[in-house]
Amino acid sequence: MRIKNLQEYHEAYSLSVEKPEQFWADIANEFDWIKPFTKVLDWSFDDYSVKWFEDGQMNITANALDRHLKTIPDQAAMVYEPNEPGDEAITLTYRQLHARVCKFSNVLKAQGVTKGDRVCIYMPMIPELAIAVLACARIGAIHSVVFGGFSAQSISDRINDSQCKLVITTDGAVRGNKTIPMKETVDDALVSCPCVETVIVKTRTQTPVSMVKGRDLWWEEEEMQASDVCTPEAMNAEDPLFILYTSGSTGKPKGVVHTCGGYMVYTAYTFANVFQYNPGDVFFCTADIGWITGHSYLVYGPLLNGAISVLFEGIPTYPDAGRFWDIIKRHQVNIFYTAPTAIRSLMGFGDEFLVGKDLSSLRVLGSVGEPINVEAWQWYDEKIGKGNCPIVDTWWQTETGGLMISPIAGITPLKPAFATLPLPGVQPILVDENGKEIEGNGVNGNLCIKYPWPSIIRTTYGDHERCKTTYFSTYPGLYFTGDGCMRDEDGYYRITGRVDDVMNISGHRIGTAEVENAINMHTGVIESAVVGFPHDVKGQGIYAYVICEHPTINDELTRKDILATVARVIGPIAKPDKIQFVTGLPKTRSGKIMRRILRKVAEGEFGSLGDTSTLLDPSVVDSIIKGAL
Ligand code: PRX
Repeated sequence: MRIKNLQEYHEAYSLSVEKPEQFWADIANEFDWIKPFTKVLDWSFDDYSVKWFEDGQMNITANALDRHLKTIPDQAAMVYEPNEPGDEAITLTYRQLHARVCKFSNVLKAQGVTKGDRVCIYMPMIPELAIAVLACARIGAIHSVVFGGFSAQSISDRINDSQCKLVITTDGAVRGNKTIPMKETVDDALVSCPCVETVIVKTRTQTPVSMVKGRDLWWEEEEMQASDVCTPEAMNAEDPLFILYTSGSTGKPKGVVHTCGGYMVYTAYTFANVFQYNPGDVFFCTADIGWITGHSYLVYGPLLNGAISVLFEGIPTYPDAGRFWDIIKRHQVNIFYTAPTAIRSLMGFGDEFLVGKDLSSLRVLGSVGEPINVEAWQWYDEKIGKGNCPIVDTWWQTETGGLMISPIAGITPLKPAFATLPLPGVQPILVDENGKEIEGNGVNGNLCIKYPWPSIIRTTYGDHERCKTTYFSTYPGLYFTGDGCMRDEDGYYRITGRVDDVMNISGHRIGTAEVENAINMHTGVIESAVVGFPHDVKGQGIYAYVICEHPTINDELTRKDILATVARVIGPIAKPDKIQFVTGLPKTRSGKIMRRILRKVAEGEFGSLGDTSTLLDPSVVDSIIKGAL
């Protein structure tokens, strides 16, 4: 499974294209199967359906936990670094993690949760979050983790969409010097979620919470009564493992569904290879488990490889901007995986926070979630990696389940800001607007993938048509990523950013339509249009053009009201950075907003607005420009 040099990479890549079934079957056979598979792949991108290892049975936790009990039971599996730097870090060995997962599996079973049931998890970054995820997987329940920064409204939308019957949360959360309510937010969400029968609450902050009789239970009490023996449920490889909601160009976030077998094989394979993980290495992924990066490279990928995974509860700037570097020293981290936003933000605090920090344990650095600019790449390389650590700029998506285009650490020759080459099993193709393949090198186009890999999205929960239209209809026969991409003279890939109406704010994916809907909920707002604009730290910021019913009496106050509305409807991460009040929006005669113009104005490029002759009222543009100045 492990690629050791460039030649092996090329060989593996060729084999994966020429004989994909043989390639993936060999890798899949390295895992424990309850019933071996005989069929490897069945697929169609035309009438979308993909099945990997379909008649095999397995359980991902048997592979991520039980398998290691024979070899490394007393090695650390997870190291929890609490929010407060002075608090004791907690290490869970594979034996301990296994026992806690089994216990909590039994807690869920005692509440009547069975295979196929949906469970919503809304928790801060504490070990119990990973335990809850793994316990669902063990009994075959489908977890739907909702990032702890989302609002009550977002939680209830997600719970209702997938009809979760149980919710797991905490009393509160601590992040930096803030205490954040969790149970209270869940209570607000559940007012409109009749499907939820049970809520399990883990204590974290000792925040007083209301516990509803007959519905709410304390994690600690239930865990105490549960046995730590739990046989993993035999899952068909194509049974759903989890749902993770993500934003698109239109409508509400959709529930991306990943299944058990393919996801296991692909996350394990990519983790081992891209990071070149060696036994005993300490791996620190700074992502929250509420996002796909946390699912695949904090929980599943590392544990499937018997790795030591660091789980950090806090934020990079608490108590100061040296916190990541202190954690690296404290836990002797060898592989560090973070987002460009974090790098740029820490860079902005100045190098004084690096003085005296011992980063000598580091061997590999990773980047994920958004394009990394050359300046940030170089700072990361020089100041953190001391010029000695390969940087893997990993391009992938919630829908891809695992890393897709990425260097293999220490093996693929690097170029700053390039995701470099596709991993084995990944067949990228660039197309023009009409879907025609753009061949050769030194070209730009829309990035598609033409062949399935094991952890490709299987469906969008409850709405397979939406999955087909979103990903497989723009360019028939291809999976469309939504990203623009260049392939340089050497055949290296560089992702240039989304080409659809999806923004990437600090590495978080947010749809323009979602933010517009939230703004429009504010009383007095008639219409709004939202675009992304370049932001030094966040990569992209949110720019909102808003039409109000009457001229506002106090613009500043109305702006704050709108921000509060967006935070309540979606969550603080979706709050616009700029709100400009306007009297009209640039629309075509058919009523379509010309976002191209709004994007240019947001970027401050007033001189190059292009053709505005198709606008219903071209004078709108002048007034918008005036307002932006
Ligand atoms: O635009 C690409 C960007 O993030 C999008 C996927 O977002 P999400 O599903 O939230 O997953 C993020 C973590 C995998 C992509 O469509 N993106 C992700 N990684 C990179 C990137 N853009 C440039 N370079 C990357 N390495």
